[in-house]
Amino acid sequence: MEIIIAADHAGFELKEAIKQHFSQKFQYCDLGTFSSDSVDYPDFAHPLGEKIAQKKDSMGILICGTGNGVAMTANKHSDVRAALAWNTEIAALARQHNNANVLVLPARFISAEIAFEIVATFFQTAFEGGRHERRVNKINIH
Ligand code: RB5
Repeated sequence: MEIIIAADHAGFELKEAIKQHFSQKFQYCDLGTFSSDSVDYPDFAHPLGEKIAQKKDSMGILICGTGNGVAMTANKHSDVRAALAWNTEIAALARQHNNANVLVLPARFISAEIAFEIVATFFQTAFEGGRHERRVNKINIH
């Protein structure tokens, strides 16, 4: 499975750690950033949002300091459902109830070990559909 991944400078180290940790499990389309030099998170979250919107069933990971900046940016794109998760329960519910297609991590508030658990949970949890499908279908503004 290919995962589209991007981060700002606050998320750069965690992005690299996730890529390394799951190197046998996933392939990555890495949209940057590629160092800890200060950048503006929309410059990375918008390209990821565009890619997710273009390709049905694609999935991604976005990382910044709090997660909020990249989540707000990515969610401007139609059909992007970027969910901020700081524990495995929220990550599972984001998939089960919201059919989230982008996992957002707050790099400055979780350890790498917790982040690995969140990533594993997110990508192994399925959307439950049913009543949740009706609700998810109401998210987009057409
Ligand atoms: C960068 O300092 C920080 O503002 C950014 O990573 C993020 O937390 C914004 O939402």
